[in-house]
Amino acid sequence: MLIAHLSDPHLRPRGTFYQGLVDSNAMFEAAVSHLNSINPKPDVVILSGDVVDEGTPAEYVVAREFLGTIEAPVLVIPGNHDKREAFRACFLDQDYIAPSGPLHFIAPNHGPVRIIGLDITVPGEHHGDMDDAACDWLTNALALEADRPTIVMMHQPPFKSGIPYIDEYNCRRGQRLAEIIARYPAVERILCGHIHRFMQVRFGGTMLCTAPSTTSAIALRLWPDAEPASFIEPPALLLHQWRPDTGLVTHHVPIGSFRGPLPFF
Ligand SMILES: [Fe+2]
Repeated sequence: MLIAHLSDPHLRPRGTFYQGLVDSNAMFEAAVSHLNSINPKPDVVILSGDVVDEGTPAEYVVAREFLGTIEAPVLVIPGNHDKREAFRACFLDQDYIAPSGPLHFIAPNHGPVRIIGLDITVPGEHHGDMDDAACDWLTNALALEADRPTIVMMHQPPFKSGIPYIDEYNCRRGQRLAEIIARYPAVERILCGHIHRFMQVRFGGTMLCTAPSTTSAIALRLWPDAEPASFIEPPALLLHQWRPDTGLVTHHVPIGSFRGPLPFF
């Protein structure tokens, strides 16, 4: 089972740049084009939030159009830049989208790995929160097939990365999540967005990865009073391949055209 993972495209109305500076739509088109050329084809694509930048209906029109060019089925969760009800209205015809409340889901079957979307966004805020309702929902969801290999996808990461200006807006009360996950060893991975960088950390007895954005990267500044900044680094996506003999293998895949193939050396 092959799962492609995109994050934080921050799509904008046509002709508009992300923060007035970056053509995030063109960068997402490049990501989709790269994704559609992957061999073998992914069974499913997951998108870990910040589908659009301001949450306007015009942006969601673009989102539907662009996501429609992805050849595999797509599963999305909202990020802090999405607006919950506009997001729901945009994707309501998809069978995994909840008709009310947080946009949690347990995906229909796309292969041996079960994919759970956990919506820990707090409407109107940039941080996330593992509140009582999210804890209850996740506990029940995991218990439904406790022994099945599982991915939990969420937007804001529940840990401190060391980059101060993003840690301020992480998922609060992450320890509660760690305690739940620790009871379900079949959770292969927690996958997050938000941080616009690839990171890995041990969390709740499993492995947690954050995906890079298809557009900007948050500056890697690991000192306490660092000035917030972004860079246009080479964009990337993640590929997670489930292998019965190994488990879930995660590949970091730069987006673009590169010299090669050259001989194997
Ligand atoms: Fe983002």
